[in-house]
Amino acid sequence: MPAFTATAPGKIILFGEHAVVYGEPAIAAPVQSLEARVIVNPDITGSPGEVQIEAQDIGLAAELNQLEPDHPLRAAIAAVVSEEKFKDLPACQIQITSTIPISSGLGSSAAISAALIRAFSAFLGQRMTNEQVSQAAFEVEKIHHGTPSGIDNSVVAFQQPIYYQKGVPLEFLSISSPFSILIADSGSPGDTRKAVMAVKEGWVKDPDKYQGLFSEIGSISARAREAISRGEINQLGPLMDRNHKLLQELGVSTPKLDHLAQTAREAGALGAKLSGGGLGGHLIALVNDQVETPWERLLEAGAASVFLSAISGPFQSESGGPEGQ
Ligand code: MEV
Repeated sequence: MPAFTATAPGKIILFGEHAVVYGEPAIAAPVQSLEARVIVNPDITGSPGEVQIEAQDIGLAAELNQLEPDHPLRAAIAAVVSEEKFKDLPACQIQITSTIPISSGLGSSAAISAALIRAFSAFLGQRMTNEQVSQAAFEVEKIHHGTPSGIDNSVVAFQQPIYYQKGVPLEFLSISSPFSILIADSGSPGDTRKAVMAVKEGWVKDPDKYQGLFSEIGSISARAREAISRGEINQLGPLMDRNHKLLQELGVSTPKLDHLAQTAREAGALGAKLSGGGLGGHLIALVNDQVETPWERLLEAGAASVFLSAISGPFQSESGGPEGQ
């Protein structure tokens, strides 16, 4: 039995977070420079059912059976093979590493689940399609976020920019004019679960107001998709700014994210918004060729780190397989 490796990228939400939980469309893109990587090595000396999991980044080294039933890594394995069959699993060691910062809005949990599900299913000789990986990772996302929309698991499983709406077939964005996004760490961790719950509380208290905010965000996503398909990238800037304002009204921005957004715009970015669940995490800013000034200003304004990501597609996904396949 050979070793199997799978990776999954980080992600940014370009438009539509939170509203997407309420059925509005949203746009997400993979961040290929960040990745979760899972290697499953057979353990020829072990007995059936002995599955060792090592995730150095979170200081975890444990046997699968020692993990709590609702531990996300155990849930990811259980999404591939039912718990009753754990005792018959071929002995193996699973190594999980990730360069995607945790609690950052960059999709770390979904990427780890997707890479683990893909590598482990391939190891068992049951290769899963992207759709199956996405569905299985969605089950794990429920543990992380309570009521996920499904956008995070979709973008990291398919590794392509997507236009996503619950209950509607997934649409892949073909990007004729690639564009550049600066991604800035606000320096404070985000909290998607808390943010999603806070938005839900607001919506329960004042459904009309929240419904109005959601539908405006949804129409921004729809307009952004049109602009992207026509290659009219300049139009995305004001749409990002407006989306950020609406996220502020939903209560998921922070003074630091607002300050970074303003700084980026004043430094020449075409638009800026928070990305992901919010309450911390990352800011994204659309930039043209003048990348250096907004990059430097964001760092001066207190961003913990800044990097550039090209939004283009579709991508070739790297998945499964013994070395060389
Ligand atoms: C998180 O990346 C995006 C949210 O809209 C939650 C979700 O869609 O599951 C905040």
